[in-house]
Amino acid sequence: MFTFVLLNVILFYFSLRNVIYSISKNYLKTKILQTTKEIYLLAIESSCDDTGAAVLHNDTVLSNIIANQDIHAEYGGVVPELASRAHQQNIVPVVHRALQKANIGKNQLSAIVFTKGPGLLGSLLVGTSFAKSMAQALNIPLLSVNHMQAHVLAHFINDDAQQKPEFPFLCLTISGGHTQIVKVNSHLDMEILGETLDDAVGECYDKSAKILGLDYPGGPLIDKLAQKGNPDAFAFPKPKVDGLDFSFSGLKTSILYFVQKETAKNPLFIEEHIEDICASIQKRIVSILMDKLEKAVKQTGITQVAIAGGVSANSEIRKQLKDKENDGWTTYIPKFEYTTDNAAMIGIVGYYKLLNNDIDDVKTVATARLSVEDK
Ligand code: KG4
Ligand code: ZN
Repeated sequence: MFTFVLLNVILFYFSLRNVIYSISKNYLKTKILQTTKEIYLLAIESSCDDTGAAVLHNDTVLSNIIANQDIHAEYGGVVPELASRAHQQNIVPVVHRALQKANIGKNQLSAIVFTKGPGLLGSLLVGTSFAKSMAQALNIPLLSVNHMQAHVLAHFINDDAQQKPEFPFLCLTISGGHTQIVKVNSHLDMEILGETLDDAVGECYDKSAKILGLDYPGGPLIDKLAQKGNPDAFAFPKPKVDGLDFSFSGLKTSILYFVQKETAKNPLFIEEHIEDICASIQKRIVSILMDKLEKAVKQTGITQVAIAGGVSANSEIRKQLKDKENDGWTTYIPKFEYTTDNAAMIGIVGYYKLLNNDIDDVKTVATARLSVEDK
């Protein structure tokens, strides 16, 4: 008898909790829909090694603060445990600065947006827990965002320095963890046409830089040195991969063997030829990306083409994409500060999710693996 009563009490508690959840979610939805003209969003990004917080007024960025974690340079790559600890130290001051710079008080916020995945789980958990607590404390909606969609939607941030693409468009998303060609049908509907089978292009840049004794992250350093070198000095092989997929691990290995062979003959080889080596690596990497992009345009007939992600800060890919305007493409190149990981791009996805009434509750969990096609 006692067990029966206890069971009923437990069942009653859980059904009451679900009713409260759904009432509060619907209340927040109604509240937000009444005020959609004036939305103030606080967005938080913590998927890898940069802690970011941004404040948006509708689709316009009021502040975009990033704390880079220099600690990883000592190790030549991101150390997950150190990254989550640094996020814990950075998140409060970064959020504080973002609000201060935007001149917005916590009580003016309409919703809190955070990166749900993909990324390092420990890092994601810091942002997720912070966002959930803040949304609950302020009693405002919570919006979880897919980091890969955010790189693409960075193009929709209202900013004089960039243009918004028209649907459908193709987006080459190139970062430290991903390389993919995405067909973007609408703000939140994306389809992968091709992606890397092994290393990401940013990883190829960073690993090649490590081979050359350059600091992490090596992508920007290779780009800088390449601009003073001869791109035809050394020839690196082009991977043979079917369709619109990519592969970069073979290229990385061939760079390693080439450098080992040459330094065995001349220990000063890297030092004497660093600019030419970087220019030759950059030429090969960009030719792989551009060839697949041309193929995607031919295959789909879509000539609206964007680039996104950390590697889209690269000077050569930006130049070669722009040149394709001569072939009738309409190209979209993001503003520098929206290429590498940042919270403003998380905020813009939150803005579109809010317009779609697609809000989350505290049960939302961070997830290390998430495709751009997932919600
Ligand atoms: O998007 P992102 O900030 O982080 C991920 O989501 O992965 O991308 C970081 C990657 C790093 O691999 C970095 O070396 C690369 O972007 N990167 C560049 C340049 N700037 C950043 N690669 C080549 N040229 C650049 N100018
Ligand atoms: Zn990223």
